[in-house]
Amino acid sequence: MKLALVNASPRGKKSNSGLLLKWLVRDLPADAEKTLVCAVKAEDQKAAIGQIAGCDALVIAFPLYTDAMPGITKKFFENMMESKKSFSGKPVLFIIHSGFPEAVQSRMAERYVRYFAGLMDMHPAECLIIGGTEAMRFAPEEAFGKRANALAALGKKFVAGQVLTESDLHMPGHREKFPRAVMGLFNVIAPLTDVFWNQLLKKNGAFKKRFDRPYQ
Ligand SMILES: Cc1cc2nc3c(=O)[nH]c(=O)nc-3n(C[C@H](O)[C@H](O)[C@H](O)COP(=O)(O)O)c2cc1C
Repeated sequence: MKLALVNASPRGKKSNSGLLLKWLVRDLPADAEKTLVCAVKAEDQKAAIGQIAGCDALVIAFPLYTDAMPGITKKFFENMMESKKSFSGKPVLFIIHSGFPEAVQSRMAERYVRYFAGLMDMHPAECLIIGGTEAMRFAPEEAFGKRANALAALGKKFVAGQVLTESDLHMPGHREKFPRAVMGLFNVIAPLTDVFWNQLLKKNGAFKKRFDRPYQ
């Protein structure tokens, strides 16, 4: 089985998406054939798609950005459509993950990828949603040991062509939606988490533009 792994994060190799893919293949046999590509540069995407065109199954991991997906991820899907024949009939697992812990945040993106898989005739199409991933890049791997183990078990089942159950697709600590009281608490601590995101905006010269609404 030739497995294609697509890291569709704008952060490329140093991303949480990359870490999730690493854990997913951790327990596969050493001789398992895997091809990992990054979608980070739009100009390289067609070549990356050429590299994985001969695969038997695919895993595509990407983060939630502004309640949807990064532009380069969407571009990758659009480029894949031009090579539809290379992917139709192949099983695909999408991993959509977000900074916010609730899975419900990613359900819109899930609808998109399921629709996309339908257009591509890729089946079965599975979707794994993982909340609360931002800290993974900074934390010691042991801090996410349970998640890594669950992903490794899922990877083995997916590669073996086994049917994935709902519990396979719920990582430890999976939370669909927080109760209202918890949401109230988030509103109180939101200004603290804003410190981190505002730093990123300033670093990228985008802080002053943060309330821009270019399409209105
Ligand atoms: C520009 C940007 C927008 C984001 N938007 C959201 C969002 O709308 N909802 C959310 O839960 N997380 C959001 N996040 C958090 C990312 O989903 C999270 O940090 C993820 O772990 C990044 O994965 P990566 O390292 O693979 O890119 C955003 C992050 C960035 C940088």
